[in-house]
Amino acid sequence: MSVNWSLPFEEKIIPSKYQSKVISPSIYKELHKIATENYKEFWASIASQLEWFKPWEKVLDDSNPPFYKWFVSGEINASYLAVDRHAKSWRKNKVAIIWEGEPAEGDKPKEVRYITYGELYREVNRVAYILKEVYGLKKGDAISLYLPMIPELPIFMLAAARLGIIFSVVFSGFSAQALADRINDARAKLLVTADGGWRRGKIVPLKDIADKALENTSTVEKVLVVKRTNNNITMKEGRDEFFDNVYKQVPLNAYVEPERTKSEDPLFILYTSGTTGKPKGIVHDTGGYLTILHATMNWVFDIKDSDIMWTTADIGWITGHSYIVFGPLLEGVTTVMYEGALDYPNPDRWASIIERYGVTILYTSPTAIRSFMKLGEDVYKGRDFSSVRLMHSVGEPINPEAFRWFFRLVGKESIPFGSTWWMTETGGIMISHLPGLYLIPLKPGTNGMPLPGIDADVVNENGNPTKPEERGYLVIRKPWPGMPLTIWGDPDRYVKVYWSKFPGIFYPGDFAVKDSDGYFWILGRADEVIKVAGHRLGTYELESALIHHPAVAEAAVVGVPDPLKGEVPVAFVVLKVGQKANEELKKSLNEWVREQVGPIASLSSIYFVSKLPKTRSGKIMRRVVKAVITNQPVGDVTTLEDEASVEEVKKAYEELK
Ligand code: PRX
Repeated sequence: MSVNWSLPFEEKIIPSKYQSKVISPSIYKELHKIATENYKEFWASIASQLEWFKPWEKVLDDSNPPFYKWFVSGEINASYLAVDRHAKSWRKNKVAIIWEGEPAEGDKPKEVRYITYGELYREVNRVAYILKEVYGLKKGDAISLYLPMIPELPIFMLAAARLGIIFSVVFSGFSAQALADRINDARAKLLVTADGGWRRGKIVPLKDIADKALENTSTVEKVLVVKRTNNNITMKEGRDEFFDNVYKQVPLNAYVEPERTKSEDPLFILYTSGTTGKPKGIVHDTGGYLTILHATMNWVFDIKDSDIMWTTADIGWITGHSYIVFGPLLEGVTTVMYEGALDYPNPDRWASIIERYGVTILYTSPTAIRSFMKLGEDVYKGRDFSSVRLMHSVGEPINPEAFRWFFRLVGKESIPFGSTWWMTETGGIMISHLPGLYLIPLKPGTNGMPLPGIDADVVNENGNPTKPEERGYLVIRKPWPGMPLTIWGDPDRYVKVYWSKFPGIFYPGDFAVKDSDGYFWILGRADEVIKVAGHRLGTYELESALIHHPAVAEAAVVGVPDPLKGEVPVAFVVLKVGQKANEELKKSLNEWVREQVGPIASLSSIYFVSKLPKTRSGKIMRRVVKAVITNQPVGDVTTLEDEASVEEVKKAYEELK
């Protein structure tokens, strides 16, 4: 858990531009109570605002908890809703996606694409044609997408969704091993990748990484390669094809009938880190997922047809799936996507994107905000942020200082700005301010209150609600649309991870407090997951990478607070006998971990010790390691095997500080 700042429970801010929407927390609580007590009827009324091919037979099948099914047997198609409906309406020539590639230098990017709904419709249909007619894929098959932030990524997602093909997007910053694990687990038949992607002026050699991954996979029959960077790559005969070559053979006006997918059919699998080495394939349904997106696009983002929405995340994460691709397109608005980094080649690229496209709704992260803040306000002098009428942050707790700074700089202290809590598993936002509905006053750093119909609470170890301002565990008591169907291929793990700590109640794994007004403040992970710059990493994943290194005997990785990234991982390593502890080895260990897991898994420091705090049964006590280095009480150490190990950790840490 990383929060170590004091929380302004009492401070209340009313954004002047939304004054008419403001209600008191106690009134909101009443509205929330009514919706949540009648949650099935309530969610049914929201879902009925979507276009269904066939209505559902039952709102919620709760006969086999926790494997809930929403809007059972209702027929709906995500691609039809996000594309066809708009392409067949006045929105045909409206811009669906504004995309800009990584600029080479200066303010103006070389490549910008404005893709209208009409064009998106044509492209999605042609790609669906490829999936169906060229590769013979059908409903229920799985494909993996390992692509940079280029328009082909959402297009492939939408084309797969059109056919009920389950897609699994693998973040393009992941390594060959991580990609292979995800392909194997999903049993993907097709891999779509690119020759490379641009990031900070360098090419990320995606095809080379994919080739390495494919050495360890058995399900992938074909590989489609999008040309992006034109670097040299090897193409394997019979397996690899350039996307362009296949695409140009598809009739221009190809039309592929959208499948009448059932609400409870899987739409996608997205892998996320947990407390063990193997990533969890979170499976999302179709009807429930679209319902939570429709609700949150309206309540949280107050979306209007004239909006230009910019979510600064990567589509490889859930934030991108939900609020770059499906959410905005479902509502028929314009979504902005960019390749590269927010601060490259100029530190204020992000400000320039807002200005150039007239972004009205901004959704970003605390780490991004803190990195902008570090440069000081002068960098943004003269920038025009006046188009932005609403913004939120996501991914990790936002410190009040960063909140205030961004609220002043971009929000001119007059527009709603919240910190929305949710996670890969929830599909959409769960706790937030709701400027599109009724707005409770803002407080710097709070998450606001649970959405109507979301029965969230904070409880102690026994499952009883905590007192105001007392730390406890966040839970969600009732099922909600957008919840996972299961963990792909591992339903027992789904029950164990989320539904067992408090039987019958969903446990996300976060610490939280509720203040006396009923506002929620999520404090950070209660388990061995860390959030590095908002990215979710399992300490166990990093440890497994380390112990696979020939020099390493044992390793413990913990997250420590970091002023910029929220948290960073540090490792305590016991070397094998005969290995020399030196700077060179540290460097090679760090490179090794990046190679095994991906560049996002950079260890901030490595400490060599001769023993680690362990229980008598041999389990590493990360809790103790973390307490020692964050200067917290170590707590109960009666099960500790060797107390001297605590001193070792302390000494190693102090010496290098
Ligand atoms: O710890 C919480 C943190 O991010 C975790 C979920 O990570 P992920 O599945 O990668 O999804 C991130 C984007 C939806 C949560 O368990 N988290 C997310 N949003 C917030 C947050 N912590 C505090 N405040 C937030 N707004």
